[in-house]
Amino acid sequence: SKGINGLDKVILRDPRGSSAEVYLYGAHVTSWKNEQAEELLFLSSKAIFKPPKPIRGGIPICFPQFSNLGPLDSHGFARNRFWTIDDSPPPFLTNTPSKAFVDLILKPSEDDIKIWPHRVALGSGGDLMMTSRIRNTNIDGKPFSFTFANHTYFSVSDISEVRVEGLETLDYLDNLQKRERFTEQGDALTFESEFDRIYLSTPTKIAILDHEKKRTIVLRKDGLPDAVVWNPWDKKAKAMSDFGDDEYKYMLCVEAAAIEKPITLKPGEEWKGRLELSTVPSSYCSGQ
Ligand code: BG6
Repeated sequence: SKGINGLDKVILRDPRGSSAEVYLYGAHVTSWKNEQAEELLFLSSKAIFKPPKPIRGGIPICFPQFSNLGPLDSHGFARNRFWTIDDSPPPFLTNTPSKAFVDLILKPSEDDIKIWPHRVALGSGGDLMMTSRIRNTNIDGKPFSFTFANHTYFSVSDISEVRVEGLETLDYLDNLQKRERFTEQGDALTFESEFDRIYLSTPTKIAILDHEKKRTIVLRKDGLPDAVVWNPWDKKAKAMSDFGDDEYKYMLCVEAAAIEKPITLKPGEEWKGRLELSTVPSSYCSGQ
């Protein structure tokens, strides 16, 4: 169907009420609702749905370069290209036990030898599952290196009430201090000013506890060792033209990523990254 500005989008629905919305532009998930029809992702009211501007919020894909860590534009080009629906997805993707899914593929150009298939699926219970595959089909022997992130913007009730668990005692690179390396000292992460860190070699499970909404969002990831945590806070919010001045209060990015050690694929090799998002009522979480 058609979304904002006539851009093509696909809506996934589960019979029990959960749904997701995926724009072909950027293979960008712009909405994910649970069985109670609550929106779990943050999408800026100022988001610009106009190529080549990436959409602010939801889940952009940062590929083949995270941030400005290389020669490409910030966060690479996957988020501002038109992807196409893949009618003959690679075999393993079809093993995902889900009825509501969309397979997308990015071919940088017609004669390119690299292809990037991506699947977004809704699981039972309303889980959102994303599987990204990168394949180097280059036959002339050239390896190919990249960094990657699922740049997930979550909707939160009040950023100063939110806690992130699973990153305690880990090392991180602080983007606000020239990417210097530090070790996390505190308990769960809490937020009271601008925050922009790359946590390294994190566990496969990270939880975002939203006390006010009595809800916890759980990320489970595979092939994505790092985790970026970002909130622009007031000053940077004001500086972004596609982000409301006060919206930083209602969002938090926790991104499953592969950044510190870029992934290198020799010809014929393939990489797979997986991210699964689910929600649980807070009362079931230990310590809450
Ligand atoms: C985060 C980075 O992942 O993305 C931040 O850690 C960056 O440094 C943010 O500001 C948003 O990036 P962009 O290019 O979408 O404005």
